Amino acid sequence: MTFRLFFPPLPVCVLRVYVYPVRHNHHDPVLSLEKICYTIDKGDEKIELISDATIHVNPGHFMAIVGPSGCGKTTLLRVIAGLNEESSGNIFWNGRNLAEEEDLSPAEIGYVPQFSIAFDELSVEESIESAVRLRVRSGSRKKMKAMRDHVLSQVGMKELRDRRVGVLSGGQKRRLGLALELASNPTLLLCDEVTSGLDPKSEQEIVQLMHHLANDGDRIVVNVTHSLSNLELYDTVLVLFQGHVVYHGPPARMTHYFSVDSAENIYPTLAKRSSAQWHKSWDKHRCSYYQGNKADNEAGASKPGQDSMPTAIPGRLAQLQVLLSRRWKIFFRDRTQILLHLAMLFGFPLLVVIFGLDGVPQPRHLPSLSSVNPLEQIGTQMEVTTNHLKIGGLLSGLVMFQVILLTLMGSNNSAREIAGERLIFEKEKFAGLHVSSYIASKIFFLATLVVIQSVWMGIFVEFLIPSLPGDLVGRLIILILVNAAMTSICLGISGMMRTPEQSSLLSIYLVGFQLPLSGAVLSLPHWLEPVTRTFISAYWGWSGSLDLMKDGNFSQAINVVTEDTSLLATSVCFTILTLHITAGITAAYIGAKRHRWH
Ligand SMILES: Nc1ncnc2c1ncn2[C@@H]1O[C@H](COP(=O)(O)OP(=O)(O)OP(=O)(O)O)[C@@H](O)[C@H]1O
Ligand SMILES: [Mg+2]
Repeated sequence: MTFRLFFPPLPVCVLRVYVYPVRHNHHDPVLSLEKICYTIDKGDEKIELISDATIHVNPGHFMAIVGPSGCGKTTLLRVIAGLNEESSGNIFWNGRNLAEEEDLSPAEIGYVPQFSIAFDELSVEESIESAVRLRVRSGSRKKMKAMRDHVLSQVGMKELRDRRVGVLSGGQKRRLGLALELASNPTLLLCDEVTSGLDPKSEQEIVQLMHHLANDGDRIVVNVTHSLSNLELYDTVLVLFQGHVVYHGPPARMTHYFSVDSAENIYPTLAKRSSAQWHKSWDKHRCSYYQGNKADNEAGASKPGQDSMPTAIPGRLAQLQVLLSRRWKIFFRDRTQILLHLAMLFGFPLLVVIFGLDGVPQPRHLPSLSSVNPLEQIGTQMEVTTNHLKIGGLLSGLVMFQVILLTLMGSNNSAREIAGERLIFEKEKFAGLHVSSYIASKIFFLATLVVIQSVWMGIFVEFLIPSLPGDLVGRLIILILVNAAMTSICLGISGMMRTPEQSSLLSIYLVGFQLPLSGAVLSLPHWLEPVTRTFISAYWGWSGSLDLMKDGNFSQAINVVTEDTSLLATSVCFTILTLHITAGITAAYIGAKRHRWH
């Protein structure tokens, strides 16, 4: 890296000399797109969404991408961001070919999407702080707080620092969106429609803010917009029409280029010729417009640059800590969710206990049969069998009810866990969040819920239903495993599904099928049972618990009710439930790795 001295205007120069790293010559464009095409396959045909886009953007530049709806603005922005891979052409950043050499680091680039990207339950300050802590590797807390305060003042949100994100206005949310991206001080800031839907005054304020963010240093800010107002605040405007670049130059020369009297008339004029014709004529004029830009830029190029060294991303453990503490904070602030959890935590064990308030009677045994007459013998045998059936049925029913309710809790724990915050997660992943830290934070958070729910359920039932057979610790472990298995599987579903609604629905279906497909209540065809059962966590919880209860007196009673369903040893049940947990977490990880922006 080279360093050069920057001399501010004379009176100041006597006092201070700035030394700052230079990564590029101010006369060279920092961002260049050369003949970029982006094509998608639709069945047999290929559709070109971006055609032959060639643009150069200088440092400290504020650029608008405008064009009619559906012309490819978002697509182009995503190609620049690296979210869509170009089909042909090259993108250069500081002279570096991004396809061949090192890609942009997550900290070098900020992408502000159109959707809201913060948790409603957190305050503005907390949201920015967590963005800083997730994106910037820095030692001290004090430094983090200073960075957070700097970002707050950059976007003018100091007075709103304690306000909850959920109650912010549209304009304030857009400011927050920008603030989150500024956490890592990116040199390229890409914004998609951050001004759409705002009133004219708020729109102007946000455009002014972006203008300031660009002109403050070497940062390039690109804003995609429908709106043709405030164009004078941009350094250049790129007009896109049906995937073709048809103009890229200063806003002041646009009306002249399109031979219209005001910017508003550009869209109607575009419709008069085909996009290919417009593109061809732009190809002819492009050079002269770029020459003009260069002159403009050289005049304004001598600004003190920000330190453009990319910020280092924090390690996995540091990110895990931030995510975990944030998750608990959100959990405790979501009152409805807390009430639902409490209702389940206290209500479900009560439901189980109601069926066993009289306790579990001791099983009877057949007396020695030698001295009694055959009729009496049959009568006693029937009584004992009935007694065994009653006790076996009670134990089997209680255990099944317990495990089904735990699977219901499990699905409630995690059905929306990833799907419900998918866009926020995608955004954070793009900004450098490790998927492993994210999944680990979910595991720690959910594991706490699972252990509390299962242990409480087990102990509550144990103490209110007298004389339940079997080892309590073993049964508690089984209950934890059943709940954990369902929680993990639903976490996997929520990582794989596109929307939280899909994920919740599938998880609830899965709980609904636990009872019928376990084969414990109604027998399934012999060939089908082993197939369905394999995937039914409740069956393994039920089977494992009953197997543990088969000690001493109760084994005959349990055998009577389970002879058709053949219980498997507790150790097998442990293993299969552990496999369910592993499968769920793996699915969640694979699902989280995928890109799901829509
Ligand atoms: N994955 C895809 N499959 C099929 N068509 C797509 C896909 N992505 C984008 N398109 C199409 O490409 C075109 C450009 O989409 P894009 O979202 O870039 O438009 P836009 O200019 O941002 O529009 P708007 O101003 O409405 O946001 C649209 O016609 C859109 O339907
Ligand atoms: Mg768009």
